[in-house]
Amino acid sequence: SAPGWAIAADVVVVGSGVAGLTAALRCAAAGLSTVVVTKARLDDGSTRWAQGGIAAALGEGDTPDQHLDDTLVAGAGLCDEEAVRALVTEGPDAVRRLIATGAHFDTSAAGEIELTREGGHHRRRIAHAGGDATGAEISRALVEAVRDGGLRTIENALVLDLLTDAEGRTAGVTLHVMGEGQHDGVGAVHAPAVVLATGGMGQVFSATTNPAVSTGDGVALALRAGAEVSDLEFVQFHPTVLFLGTDSEGQQPLVSEAVRGEGAHLVDAAGTRFMLGQHELAELAPRDIVAKGIMRRMHEQGAAHMYLDARHFGARMWEQRFPTILAACRAHGIDPVTEPIPVAPAAHYASGGVRTDLRGRTTVPGLYACGEVACTGVHGANRLASNSLLEGLVFAERIAADIASRAPLSAGEPVAPASPSELPLIAPEARVEIQRIMSQGAGVLRSAASLTEAAAALEGVHRAAVEGQEGPAKTAEPGVESWETSNLLCVARVLTAAALEREETRGCHWREDRPDRDDTTWRRHLVIRIEPDRS
Ligand code: SIN
Repeated sequence: SAPGWAIAADVVVVGSGVAGLTAALRCAAAGLSTVVVTKARLDDGSTRWAQGGIAAALGEGDTPDQHLDDTLVAGAGLCDEEAVRALVTEGPDAVRRLIATGAHFDTSAAGEIELTREGGHHRRRIAHAGGDATGAEISRALVEAVRDGGLRTIENALVLDLLTDAEGRTAGVTLHVMGEGQHDGVGAVHAPAVVLATGGMGQVFSATTNPAVSTGDGVALALRAGAEVSDLEFVQFHPTVLFLGTDSEGQQPLVSEAVRGEGAHLVDAAGTRFMLGQHELAELAPRDIVAKGIMRRMHEQGAAHMYLDARHFGARMWEQRFPTILAACRAHGIDPVTEPIPVAPAAHYASGGVRTDLRGRTTVPGLYACGEVACTGVHGANRLASNSLLEGLVFAERIAADIASRAPLSAGEPVAPASPSELPLIAPEARVEIQRIMSQGAGVLRSAASLTEAAAALEGVHRAAVEGQEGPAKTAEPGVESWETSNLLCVARVLTAAALEREETRGCHWREDRPDRDDTTWRRHLVIRIEPDRS
């Protein structure tokens, strides 16, 4: 659809989690006119749901080097060490600046930040807020700072495509805005710098910890714009998600790693601690190892879930330290004070995304990516727990500094999007089918056979739309749900192709038919770029 309205700015930030709002605040502080656009409300992204906390070497005796070591081990040979070094060395001050922005972390009686442990960390290194409501507090503080700072924001705005000028440089984005007001319908924000901070793509699977808004919009936009994406096969499955039944779909309640960090045990139905002997850190091994340990035990025993036993915490500790999780469990009829919590892995985090350099620049001039949508190289094949909020903070600051260093910015005249998200649009009814295909074929356990089947089925959904056949994937009317479903199909196809190509097991990518890590052939990244269709 042709834009019906347009506004202009120096920078448009797409997304309003920790990455987007930090980037926006820092850009505005540097004197750049900044617009934040977000698909739902400002606080509706994944950040709000983060429980465990934010990792940084803040504790006595801890150092950025130790944090670096743990990050590299979790990343299974594919981290970019320079990017990790930036993350861990700039992390502590970035957290202090977040506190100065207004976020309140839990502190001891002496006023020191309290730190917990999570999988893969050899030390207590995770700062938390409200016990297990860290993301909610960070989101509250950043949203308040954005409102207090008078930044321009457009809510309920789904980003459609990148606008470029005749030289292929970024010139803004097109948006579809739902609601009542000045900017309804399809419009455009013209800007020479665009920061994608759209979060993840967990909704590509049937069961995920991600909120409904996580539909891979940023990666799909970047692919349509001809940007490189990398490491999409590395989808992290969180080991301990509250099990609500095999057919439970959509966002599922998380049971934070911090619960294991404080001493909870993973047990099977007989009460046996099956992670003992599998890894020196047992339940606190990196999360890919714990997720695999749970899946293996489920397969051996034909069980639909395992249990997390933290009855020994007692009521007081549950209420004070993990109030969010306690409430979620009780809302589903489970009392963790008196019974073990049924848990199973579910899709949680995209370790890959839109490829960037250390300044957050993508391969399209003027287009930046930050947070879960980005692949900065800090996560490698498997993100270390609680490094995601930190990555959002640190790289948002780097991006703002880079954009500010380019000022005064000037945009070329925007031409039509390289490859507009109009055809073929996928009808919303196909969403459940895409999620089913992905969960069956490209989930925690994958193989050449399951991935080939998934790729063929996704191809069928695409073909049906292209050919305008009848059925759930028939060409749809433009609208938020069909644009989102088109994005889900786009990222599902690329993710599946990458997972099929990587013929080994590494990090959170577990191939049943290729159970070993192959450093000779596969210590490399799969980088994907689609030539924009400018016809
Ligand atoms: C959790 O609290 O377990 C999630 C932490 C993370 O995803 O980094």
